[in-house]
Amino acid sequence: MEAVQLTVAISGASGAVFGRELLRTLEADERVARVHFVASENSLRVIAEELCISGRTDLLEKLLGAAPAKTIQHIDANIGASIASGSHPSHGMIILPCSMGTLAAIAQGLANSLIARAADVTLKERRPLLLCVRETPFNRIHLRNMTLAAEAGAVIFPVIPAFYNQPVDSTEMALQFVYRVLAHIGLPQPGAYVWKPEE
Ligand SMILES: Cc1cc2nc3c(=O)[nH]c(=O)nc-3n(C[C@H](O)[C@H](O)[C@H](O)COP(=O)(O)O)c2cc1C
Repeated sequence: MEAVQLTVAISGASGAVFGRELLRTLEADERVARVHFVASENSLRVIAEELCISGRTDLLEKLLGAAPAKTIQHIDANIGASIASGSHPSHGMIILPCSMGTLAAIAQGLANSLIARAADVTLKERRPLLLCVRETPFNRIHLRNMTLAAEAGAVIFPVIPAFYNQPVDSTEMALQFVYRVLAHIGLPQPGAYVWKPEE
């Protein structure tokens, strides 16, 4: 298998633990050569609330719990980063969690931040774009934006974890959700729970 390059973004929706588990799983996956990571400004507030990690300094190391081997972080304001160009090779982009604000920017093609631009590029290059949206309930604007993004080629992959695997904590719940996300883009994980009602 060709070495995989992916872009991962965390935006300011609830569910930072899901983004953290995604980054950790990709760091551990030998098929993955490079992960380009972007955290929105507003995600920093949510990460502080939910994961007790404050500030931008060493954010990646703190999320991974170790120095990154293959993941590099870009600043969301840096619209000149490699992933802002379609000429940069990529196997796709995952936004987990994806806020309604980030969804709106992508659905409307604003391309006014690195996350929105990289997502715009992913769509125009016809590469996989997974928007792991998180809000409840949805208003009609959210629903319309999800339809717009889906019509442009994005996969709406809402942060709705499974319960039939009986997760014991939020980390395991997030991890199994991440495994579903990665299976969807062709990176099935050995620890993924598989429903086997006959056994
Ligand atoms: C603790 C906390 C939880 C939030 N949860 C959500 C959420 O689940 N979904 C959402 O769309 N916005 C949520 N927000 C609001 C977004 O952070 C806000 O709309 C922000 O402007 C999104 O910016 P971004 O998309 O650039 O990250 C939350 C904010 C805070 C502080």
